[in-house]
Amino acid sequence: MSETVRAAVEAEVRNGAQAVVRVRVPAKVNVQLSVGAARPDGFHDLANVFLAVGLYDEITVTPADALRVTCAGRDAEQVPLDHTNLAARAALALAERHGIDPHVHIHIDKDIPVAGGMAGGSADGAGALLACDTLWELNSSQEELLTICAELGSDVPFSLLGGAALGIGRGEQLTPLDVDGAFHWVFAVADGGLSTPAVFREFDRLTEGSFIPAPVADPALLHALSAGDAVALAGALTNDLQPAALSLRPTLAATLDAGVEAGALAALVSGSGPTTAFLTKDPETADRVAEALLASGTCRTARMASAPAAGAVVVREDHDAA
Ligand code: C5P
Repeated sequence: MSETVRAAVEAEVRNGAQAVVRVRVPAKVNVQLSVGAARPDGFHDLANVFLAVGLYDEITVTPADALRVTCAGRDAEQVPLDHTNLAARAALALAERHGIDPHVHIHIDKDIPVAGGMAGGSADGAGALLACDTLWELNSSQEELLTICAELGSDVPFSLLGGAALGIGRGEQLTPLDVDGAFHWVFAVADGGLSTPAVFREFDRLTEGSFIPAPVADPALLHALSAGDAVALAGALTNDLQPAALSLRPTLAATLDAGVEAGALAALVSGSGPTTAFLTKDPETADRVAEALLASGTCRTARMASAPAAGAVVVREDHDAA
């Protein structure tokens, strides 16, 4: 959290808010994203292997006269502050379930790329849910929180859980996965976002008329994760949405090439993009790849992060801060 924002939140607390809860929540990359045919409800069945990565948003909640959302940090101006924000929807869903007023100020300190295919919006939903549950002392079970997360969006349950997991169905039915050690990643952030529904629509257009097999998790990829084998993981990375993201944003091909030329083991589009992800064998190579990506002029910025990262976690809890 930036010093200015932290000071503003602390001032709000001193000026009469009774309590403050802050939650840290990670971004994700999909190391396997296998997409089935469109379902009658418009969603696609997935075999979605999520890995939480160490880039975080922080969600701070304080009591207020009405529900409101503020945001600071990287690309904050692109974040909607109305009730379409998943953080606001999370507070509303939790309050409604318990028959209480959703009167809370949700402040998002943003570090996860916005509309980047790294589940930044989902992270804010999961973070706000855990923060409000803690602020309102509801003590919901993880199962109850995961049910609300699944109602909010397909990626939201994983943002709460973190670590590594296989998501089936829309991606919301999770099975945690074992990971040994740490994987070192670089993420190239593109200019502007990509709309997830638009990328799925492009997937439908590109695959029209072809047979689409039911998506299944790749045993070699699961083994690479549990063995902590970066070379094997690099050989198994797949993203069925990548052709659709490249079709909508052809310039991403040059970014992928630049990272591989600089020494990444493998590169792929992160989720629905346009962030691109580069797996490296160690932190030193990650450093070199990030520098080369920046120098290539094919992306706006490059971020290093290791994985797996923990899911949503309360980092501050104060029930009588006034
Ligand atoms: O679940 P979420 O609201 O994040 O999904 C956003 C959009 O992405 C959906 O409206 C749908 O167009 C697409 N989607 C999909 N299949 C999934 C997940 C998302 O088609 N499994």
